[in-house]
Amino acid sequence: MMKRGLPVLLLFTCTLIVGTVQSAQAQQGAMLYETKCSRCHAAFAPSDYTAEEWPGIVRSMRAQSALTADEERIITDFLVSESEQMEERSGISYKPVLGGYLYTEYFETPAAKKNFDIHYLALYASGWVSEDIYYFAEFELEHGGTGGSNTFVEQAYLDYWVKPNIAIRVGAMLAPFNRFDEFHDPISNFIVTRPQVSRELGVSAWKDVGVNIHGYFNLNADASLGFDLYTINGLGAGSNLRGSRQYRDNNEDMALGARVNLMYSDILEVGASLYQGKWDDAELYDLRMLGVHSLIRTPLADLYGEYISATSENEAPLDDGEMSGYFVQGTRLFDQKYRATVRYGALDYLDPGDQFGRDPAKGDKDLTELVFGFTYYPVPRAAFKIEYNIFGEGDRATEEDNNQIGIQIAVKF
Ligand code: HEC
Repeated sequence: MMKRGLPVLLLFTCTLIVGTVQSAQAQQGAMLYETKCSRCHAAFAPSDYTAEEWPGIVRSMRAQSALTADEERIITDFLVSESEQMEERSGISYKPVLGGYLYTEYFETPAAKKNFDIHYLALYASGWVSEDIYYFAEFELEHGGTGGSNTFVEQAYLDYWVKPNIAIRVGAMLAPFNRFDEFHDPISNFIVTRPQVSRELGVSAWKDVGVNIHGYFNLNADASLGFDLYTINGLGAGSNLRGSRQYRDNNEDMALGARVNLMYSDILEVGASLYQGKWDDAELYDLRMLGVHSLIRTPLADLYGEYISATSENEAPLDDGEMSGYFVQGTRLFDQKYRATVRYGALDYLDPGDQFGRDPAKGDKDLTELVFGFTYYPVPRAAFKIEYNIFGEGDRATEEDNNQIGIQIAVKF
């Protein structure tokens, strides 16, 4: 009895002593931190920085506080352990997540051979600065990042989750219109090129600055309703709709938009989007857009389609611009390594708005596209894609030989 009891008793006493020593250390750390580090600025909360960041910060402030090596160690230990505990309690890490993607492309048509191109390099950092404030910052370099319009802040926003299911987003964001923009990265977009309707009317990738109240409601165990309600500077003053995107702010008018998505398990999503804003410098004429999208998972293939219609008011006697288009896509993954995708799309774009600097020749597009794509994934985050794109010229143009082969090598990291 004694022989067994003694080690247990000793162990218990040791634990008690170690525990007391630890909390005494923590107390000493807290006091030292308060006295040494709040002289010039209020002491930062330990949770303001991650456990990984604190040692470097304390080291950089060592001279300001004239710390001894012992004091530096005690303060660092205190901040690191408090920050770690905070992360454990809330279950989320405050460390930023870094990532990005890049792709290189090659295109060939009967009229033109395009060289290899470092088309796109995107880098992002995202994370939580508190339990309910999230940030996302994405920086992009196009065509080797030769400067000017080839260098962008793709996204830079804060999400403040005022309720577990409702957030206010402020900053530079992708406009929540239909869904394609959220899938435009080269791993999510299964085909090399983007759908014509998403390029010309959905103006992918459509970035703008504003405020978006978004969130979701769970209707039952399987169904939920997502929503976005936003105001942004809006599209304006380009040579056509696509040329009117990317942080242009030509007038005081704020555009308004909304999107709803009904989602059922992982099988079905249907959604609708609206957008309205003045797009001329003098704020006289409206641009209105309606979008519908749907994603359906079937045993045979994943189906995805989008429709967009846009109306641009013009000065009399010009008619309103009428633009519309759609695409439907079917895709299937085989053996986790190979993907076959077919897309069909049409675009009818006619806007005579030349008095606002828009170019009717540039706007006039009537075409169909039939695209066959094949992807090989050596690993899930890398893709080798090849496509064959058959263009039809539609009613207003004469048929020409402009079918295209596209190749893309893409990595997400
Ligand atoms: C002599 C004044 C002074 C003292 C003492 C001082 N600081 Fe600072 N601290 C500053 C100034 C000035 C800045 C802002 C400029 C900078 O980052 O160097 C700053 C910035 C910081 C930041 C923000 C860094 C960032 O990059 O956002 C942290 C965290 C910080 N101090 C922690 C500490 C800690 C921990 C101590 C104690 C070891 C301490 N400070 C002591 C002057 C001081």
